[in-house]
Order: sequence, then structure tokens, then C-alpha cells
Amino acid sequence: MMVKKLCCFQYFVVCSLLLAVVVSSKHTGNSANDLVDIINKNRTAQKLPQLSNSPGLGCIALQYAEECMGNCTSNNSVNCQPPEDDFTEVFAPNCGVELPTFGTISGYILGCQQKYLEPSEAFSNALVHDKRSLSLLRNKTHTEVGVGIIKAHKHKGPYLWCVLFSSSQRNTTFVLDDLGEGIKQKKGCYSGTSFSCSRAHRDEGLLSNIIWILVLFCIIHFQQFLFKLF
Ligand SMILES: *[C@@H]1O[C@H](CO)[C@@H](O)[C@H](O)[C@H]1NC(C)=O
Ligand SMILES: *[C@@H]1O[C@H](CO)[C@@H](O)[C@H](O)[C@H]1NC(C)=O
Ligand SMILES: *[C@@H]1O[C@H](CO)[C@@H](O)[C@H](O)[C@H]1NC(C)=O
Ligand SMILES: *[C@@H]1O[C@H](CO)[C@@H](O)[C@H](O)[C@H]1NC(C)=O
Ligand SMILES: *[C@@H]1O[C@H](CO)[C@@H](O)[C@H](O)[C@H]1NC(C)=O
Repeated sequence: MMVKKLCCFQYFVVCSLLLAVVVSSKHTGNSANDLVDIINKNRTAQKLPQLSNSPGLGCIALQYAEECMGNCTSNNSVNCQPPEDDFTEVFAPNCGVELPTFGTISGYILGCQQKYLEPSEAFSNALVHDKRSLSLLRNKTHTEVGVGIIKAHKHKGPYLWCVLFSSSQRNTTFVLDDLGEGIKQKKGCYSGTSFSCSRAHRDEGLLSNIIWILVLFCIIHFQQFLFKLF
């Protein structure tokens, strides 16, 4: 009886741990906001002014990334320049950015990678990795920033990161209609909002499948155990 109790206790511990993993993996936060923080930390360390996190600009960055989803090469370079008109004729309406408030975009950084990267890795490996991006990061004329992140396919990459800088007057440009709500996006996530990046956004690799199977196994076993008990 003692042996059996011990084994059940161990089961309980393993199952609880697994459930904890599943639950915690649901809280992914918003990695676009994390990237804005990293950008601002990097700037402050160099005594440059912080940039305002603009949700309207972030949403446009997401649209930009979405348009370039097919342009990520096998060597993780992405050559993509949407037509100028797309910004006001496609991206802004898709986001619900009020057109009269469309400001000046003073630079963009685009990066892609086949696998998911944590925000700090994305910053140094996918985004700021050459002279052009480094000088954009350090430009004094920027006032606002927006970050969009998207995953090209449901079950695999590539992942695209887009950072847009603006030199417009803070907080008065890229205004989202509907009292700042804008239009809800179906894919990806962007900075300046409290919406978390969807879970589907992350790597749903083999590991998470294995964990789910183990959880199922645990539930079935636990039921059998309860049946025996009563
Ligand atoms: C990456 O691939 C593209 C085309 O597939 C090529 O034009 C570019 O030079 C490559 N870049 C590097 C760094 O190898
Ligand atoms: C994506 O790549 C294709 C092929 O190189 C190119 O024709 C297209 O213009 C690119 N898309 C954008 C938006 O730049
Ligand atoms: C900073 O950005 C502005 C606006 O895009 C540009 O005119 C200027 O040349 C940039 N400055 C540097 C040092 O790159
Ligand atoms: C800022 O980012 C650049 C590019 O990743 C890096 O080389 C530099 O060390 C960073 N600076 C600080 C102070 O973190
Ligand atoms: C812009 O908005 C942010 C967040 O709401 C605020 O912290 C910042 O002070 C504002 N900047 C200006 C210039 O109004």
C-alpha cells in the first residue's frame, strides 16, 4: 500500500508540473512590446532619447511584415519594399489608422528567421546586424517606434520582424480609430497594445505535442486511480 501511495504521489507531482508547463506556455506576453523595450534600453544606454511606442505604427509594421512573408530567403535575408502607396491605401485602412494622422516614416528594419527567436535574440540576430540597421537604431530624429511580428505558416516559420521608426510629433500621429482600438488583426501581433501574441504564433514544435500527450496520459491514469479509490 505504501509503495502504491508513493507512486501515486510521484504521478501527482509529475502531472502538476506538466500542467504548469502547459498553463505557463499560454502566457506568452507581447514580444513586440519586449522588442520596443530592448530598442529603448539600447538607445538610453547611448544617451539617445526614448521612442514612444505607437500602436498605429506597430500595426502598420505588422502589415509590412505580412506583405513580405513570401520574401524570406533560405539564408534569412529579406529583400522587400512594398510600394509607397500601400502604406496609405492598404496598411492604414487595414489597421484603422486615421488617414489625416498618417505621419512620416523615417526608417524601417526588416528581419526574418526560420525559427522563433526570443525578443533579445531577434534584436541582435535578425534585426540589428549590419551598419544600416545600427545607424537607424541610433538616429536622433526618430520620435516613435512600432514593431510587428508575424509567422508565415500556422505550423512553421519563417518568422518576420518589422520595426518602423517615425519622426512625427509624438502621440498625435498614426491614431487608431474607434478610440484607439483600431481594427483587430487576425494574424501576428504588434507593439503598443496589451494584446498578447497568440499562442499559435510561437513554435508549436514536437515538444509541446509530447507534453500534451503526457497530460492526456496523466488525466486517464488519474481517473483510473480515483475509480480504484472509491
Ligand atoms: C541570400 O540569398 C539571396 C538570394 O537567395 C542572395 O541574393 C544574397 O546575396 C544572400 N545573402 C547572403 C548574405 O548570403
Ligand atoms: C518579394 O520578392 C519578389 C521576388 O523577388 C519581388 O518580385 C517582390 O517585389 C517582393 N515583394 C515586395 C513587396 O518587395
Ligand atoms: C536620420 O534620419 C533622418 C530622417 O530619415 C535622415 O535624414 C538622416 O540622414 C538620418 N541621420 C543619420 C545620422 O543617419
Ligand atoms: C545596442 O545594440 C547593438 C546591436 O545589437 C549592440 O552592438 C550594442 O552593444 C548595444 N548597446 C548596448 C548599450 O546595449
Ligand atoms: C506620449 O504617450 C506616452 C504614453 O501614453 C507618454 O508616456 C508620453 O509622455 C507622451 N508624449 C508626449 C510628448 O505627449
